[in-house]
Amino acid sequence: MDLIVLPSKLKNSEASVPGDKSISHRALIFSAIADGTSSYAGFLLGSDCLATLKALSMMGINIEQNDTNLTIHGVGLMGLKKPLAPIDLGNSGTAVRLLAGLLSSQIFDSELIGDSSLSIRPMQRIIQPLTRMGAEIQSASGFLPLKIIGNKNITSISYEMPIASAQVKSSILLASLYANTESTITEPSVTRDHTERMLSAMNCSITCSNNVIKISQPAKLQPLNMRIPGDFSSAAFLIAAFLITKKSSITLRDVGVNPTRIGFLKIIKNMGAQVELKNNRLYGNEPVADIYVQSSTLKGITLDDPDLISLSIDEFPILFILAAYAEGTTKINGINELRHKESDRVKSMCIGMRNLGVSVKEEKDGVVITSSKFMGGEIDSFGDHRVAMSFVVAAIGAKDKIKIKDVKNIDTSFPGFVDLMRNLGLSLSINEPSMKNY
Ligand code: S3P
Repeated sequence: MDLIVLPSKLKNSEASVPGDKSISHRALIFSAIADGTSSYAGFLLGSDCLATLKALSMMGINIEQNDTNLTIHGVGLMGLKKPLAPIDLGNSGTAVRLLAGLLSSQIFDSELIGDSSLSIRPMQRIIQPLTRMGAEIQSASGFLPLKIIGNKNITSISYEMPIASAQVKSSILLASLYANTESTITEPSVTRDHTERMLSAMNCSITCSNNVIKISQPAKLQPLNMRIPGDFSSAAFLIAAFLITKKSSITLRDVGVNPTRIGFLKIIKNMGAQVELKNNRLYGNEPVADIYVQSSTLKGITLDDPDLISLSIDEFPILFILAAYAEGTTKINGINELRHKESDRVKSMCIGMRNLGVSVKEEKDGVVITSSKFMGGEIDSFGDHRVAMSFVVAAIGAKDKIKIKDVKNIDTSFPGFVDLMRNLGLSLSINEPSMKNY
């Protein structure tokens, strides 16, 4: 499926975004092994989270779903059943890495597979620490499929993570729930802490201080009842869209503003963005606010702070677009991790931006982007949801229409994005591929 987006003027509005992807995955996984029934509102019905839901159903978990409301009947730490077939996690890095941690400590064997993008994403980063904990994982040289051999003797770990990754941290934390003594994980930079917040809300003994997380084996996890906040990473596309639309503003309701997720706000404020958080409150242990955004004149910046990069890791594709709209030059360095996302995001973005006439220089570990007008043209999303949505936003102030190829994966994180953008005033049309050879 392709999208053709015309230069447009967005209307002053209020909107909300679907539930947080990271929290939705964790709600499913932790509630499955809790003792009793958990319920959630605002679950993300994206294909990534639905893959996790299906995986847990294959392991005997009864999950009732009514629109975005979920009731999960937890079976306790030892209650999962052996899946009768390989578990297909589609496009989801979070699902495969978190579930690998959980499955490493189960008594049954299992196998994890995924789509073509997931099959070329690195898994050695979880295989290495989990193996040190006693797990037995067979892989295709560090890539999917992962065959996980049943094991009831997981041991604790003291681990200094070589890269900042919330998925790796959470994988180790899940395995640690089954280890006999306390585990310690040290992060090179703080990453999103939804796992720590949720486990703590479930009464697990977990502490975090100065990049060091300590966790002890719980006797059991208590079920939760919680509303899942809107996904800040989805909100970032709307924030960007209204920053670059002249004389416009939007209020985004009920968005998660966990401090480990909102590095993007600090970055764009440094660029001159007018953004305010209002009505701050908590859903469970997660901070939530309404975000008010006004069109702003942006200026280029230099960004190379590893901590800030880690706190805005999913927002770089849309930040690249804002950098082209900003006055002057933006230099970003230290973003090699982006090369291991749903696509190589540095490359995917640079190819697309260059095709649309933007002055962008791809470097080994960064980019240099100089203020440019987006011309019309055609770009490939490389099957990456955040690349696709970034170019939809780029088209708002472009000189001519932009065709974005292969946008189906937008559904992995932001179902309803196209309809929402249309309602906000974006002029676009959808090209379904023609049925061939039938
Ligand atoms: C996620 C962690 C991030 C992020 C991903 C979701 C998570 O990856 O890119 O979209 O839910 O833990 P890292 O493993 O690089 O932190």
